[in-house]
Formats: sequence, C-alpha cells, structure tokens
Amino acid sequence: MPLDQTTTCQTSFQVDFACLGRTATHHDTDLSLLELAIGNRIPHMQECGGHGRCTTCRVRVLAGEEHLSPPTELEKRLAGQRRWGPSVRLACQAKPRGDVKIERLVKTLGEVSRLQAEGVSDERGEEKQLAILFCDMRNFTSFVEANFAYDVVYIMNRLFSVLGEPILANNGLIYQYVGDEIVGLFGLDGRNPEEVCLAAVRSALGMESALQHLNIELQQQFGLDIEVGIGIHFGKVIVGRVGHPSHQQFSIIGDAANVASRVQAANKELSTNILASQTVLEELPPDLLALGKIEEVELKGKSRPMRLYELTGFAAPDDIFLIQKDLYLLFQNDSGFAGEFYELLFSIAPSARQLFRNDLEGQIGLMGHMLKGTIYALSRPQNLKMGLRELGRRHAGYGVADEHYDLVGKVLLLTLRKRLGKAFTPETEAAWKRTVELVFKYMKEGSRHKRPSATRKDRRRQAV
Ligand code: HEM
Ligand code: FES
Repeated sequence: MPLDQTTTCQTSFQVDFACLGRTATHHDTDLSLLELAIGNRIPHMQECGGHGRCTTCRVRVLAGEEHLSPPTELEKRLAGQRRWGPSVRLACQAKPRGDVKIERLVKTLGEVSRLQAEGVSDERGEEKQLAILFCDMRNFTSFVEANFAYDVVYIMNRLFSVLGEPILANNGLIYQYVGDEIVGLFGLDGRNPEEVCLAAVRSALGMESALQHLNIELQQQFGLDIEVGIGIHFGKVIVGRVGHPSHQQFSIIGDAANVASRVQAANKELSTNILASQTVLEELPPDLLALGKIEEVELKGKSRPMRLYELTGFAAPDDIFLIQKDLYLLFQNDSGFAGEFYELLFSIAPSARQLFRNDLEGQIGLMGHMLKGTIYALSRPQNLKMGLRELGRRHAGYGVADEHYDLVGKVLLLTLRKRLGKAFTPETEAAWKRTVELVFKYMKEGSRHKRPSATRKDRRRQAV
C-alpha cells in the first residue's frame, strides 16, 4: 500500500528526551524536535526562537539518527564551521519521522555565552580585540586560614557563582579562576568595541552589586564581609587552543591580559573597587559613566604610566544594568519569582486562569526560566528579538490578546516591587517598565505574524 498522508498521520513516533526522563509521542512529521519539546512542555533552550541562529537548541542524537529529516543547508554550514559530528543536530531544524532518542547539549543559561569559544580554531591562533576583566576577592585569605576546608570551598563556590553571573548575563565568557580571582572575557563573538567595553563595565558594576546582596548573607552566617577589586582593560590578544594534544585548552595570550591583571592590582594602591584603563573609556561615549578618581599609575612592566579611571556607576540610568543589578534577589530560587507572579495574577484576574490548560507547576518553571533567559539575552539583542516574536506567536495560539499584555505587565511590576523591596527604586521601576514594554512589543509583533500553514497550530495541538 502506498504510504499516503493518512497513513503517515496515524503512525505515532516517540522522541525520548534523555536525562529529563520525558518522552513525547507524535504523529506529525512536520514538527521539529523543538516544537515537540515546547508542545509537551519539555524545557529546551531556544534563544532565537527556532531561526537557526543561536544554536542553543542543539542536541546530540543518541539513537534513531536515520529517523530525522536530513540536515538543512543552515545546519550543514554551522556543523562545518563548528566541527560538529553528524550526531549533533539543531532541534529547531530536525524533524523526527520515527523513534528518536536525544540529549540536550545546552542546558543552562551559563552555557550559552560559552558557545562563543567554539568558534576558536584548533589549528591556528587568531588575533582578537577583547575586554578583559579581572576580579579579585579581598579579605578572603584570613577566612581560609581560620576555617574548615568544607566551609572554604562552600563559600568560594558561592562567591564564584554569584560573581560569575554578571559576566554571563553580559555575554561574557568566564575564562578562568586563578586562586581567588575570576577572569572574564568579552568580545569573542566579534562585536564592536563599544558593545564589548559596555558589557564589561555592566558586568563589573553588576558584580559589585551582587556582592552587596551576598554579603548580607555571609555576614549573618560567617561574619564575613568580602570586597572585590575589579580591573578592566581593552586590547588585542591572540586566542587559540594550546597545550598537549591530549589536553588542549582555550587560551588568550598577549600583553593586554597582563595589563588587565595589573589594572586590577592597582585598586589596592588607589583604594578603589573598580578601575578601567584608558582603552576602555576611549571606546565608550564620553558622558556615559560616573567616574571617581582618575590617576596616572605606573604599572609593573610598563615603561610609561597609564591613566586609570575609577568607575562608580552610570552617569544616566542604564536600563540593562538596572535590571541586572538585582538578578541575585530575583532568582535566588529559580521558580520563586514566577510562582509569586502567577499567584498575584490569578488573585487579581481569576478569569485569566482558564487560559492555562496545562499543569501550572511546569508552567511556573518554564516561565521563570524564559524570563531569566530574556534578561540574559538583553545582551544579545538580535537573538532576543527573534525569540520573543516566536514566543508571541505561540502566545496568540494560547488565546493571549493585547489586553492580557496590559494586565500581565502590571502584575509583573507588582511582583517585582514585592520581591525587590527597597531595591525597587523609581529608577529601577522605570527601567523595568521600558524593558517590559519592549518585550511585549516584540511578542505582539509575533502574535500578528501568521504561520505559513493554516493547519500548523492544529498539528501542534495534536502533538500535545
Ligand atoms: C514576559 C513575558 C512572558 C514570558 C517570558 C512568557 C513565558 C511563557 C512560556 C515559557 C510558556 C511555555 C510555553 C511556550 O514556551 O510557548 C508560556 C505559556 C503561556 N503563557 Fe506566557 N509568557 C509571557 C507573557 C504572557 C502573557 C502576557 C500572557 C497572558 C495571560 C501569558 C499567558 C500564557 C499562557 C496562557 C500560556 C500557555 C499555558 C498552558 O498551556 O497551560 N504569557 N509563557
Ligand atoms: S538555533 Fe534553534 S532555537 Fe536558535
């Protein structure tokens, strides 16, 4: 019997999302792995919303490779550039036509910025202009000497994770830890110098702010008050993979890295917390930053003094920084914020509850993760725009209309006020308002954009 449309639709296949212990059964050969994940409420990274740009949806196919649609031209190009083997596929491009078992390769937001290092060739070095950030923890040595190994490692990991988040939220790469120092790199993906230096500055200020929040806890638990010294420098380095053939590491080589480390060290002498070199300031608009001390400093190994600038903040409100600075308070426990948001939403507008047909617990997790992902993707605006348009298009399918956006916007701001308390200053509120407006603008644009096929939505319902 010829395999006609009806026969194809009646046969069901299984996609096993390994590690998550979730399986999606489907009978629509036109759905991608990503669409299946979304339709079945299976968490899956998808920063560009399925446009084949961000590669965050990549999966490893553990079984049934032959049951996936052949790689698209876009996938072939990416696989060539990034040296992926045939078992790595983009979930937004690959369509299962039989049983398949897959594993997600990017599971956390932190892993997204690390993908930039993939572009670095194994064979030859490359020259790049990077902003390099060194952050040194102070007051830590005496704590190490006076405490148990268990507490020392616990606190160090808390510090590294809290201080690392602002690097990741600004599209930076956590390059390495040297003792109690953390090193971040910005610009590996070849953005323009202004964006790169701005990202490093936001990150430095964000680290200082995250530490203030964490110190409240450390004071209560261990009587510990950690300070940081941060130095930023912008300059040329060679990036490449170096080391024994069995253990090559991504590395940066060049004077700019040494200078960044010395700019950091100069904080002690100047009694400052954040210093940036002239090269950083030159890339930024002249009145962007609030500056403290400006000093000519002789750095070790440099024949001439360098001018260093103390950074104390932004001169005018910077929306992205204002939103990022309280990430620590928002996402201390991952789904807490989204849980509070839905509780408030349904108490203010009980009728909105009927739009949510799937299990609410899962929805809280997905929404919280997507919201955090949106904040991180503010540093990758192109991906963000595409991702939000796609999210908006799906929301139209859930019955979400323009008036719901107004309601949800108000509830989001109320939840933020409750969660952030005193940190929700008028400046922060204004930054959130503008950003929520932008997010909803993209989502609404997507909601007016119809799918190419009229039956597509029905098909997805079928899959769910
Ligand atoms: C900040 C903006 C928003 C974010 C980040 C967000 C995030 C999400 C996510 C991740 C999902 C899971 C399904 C999917 O990915 O397609 C979802 C579903 C949903 N969202 Fe949103 N959303 C937002 C705004 C809204 C608004 C304005 C409404 C209006 C009430 C809404 C109502 C819904 C509904 C009804 C569902 C389907 C739930 C179900 O099937 O049980 N969302 N949202
Ligand atoms: S490449 Fe698949 S979601 Fe971005």
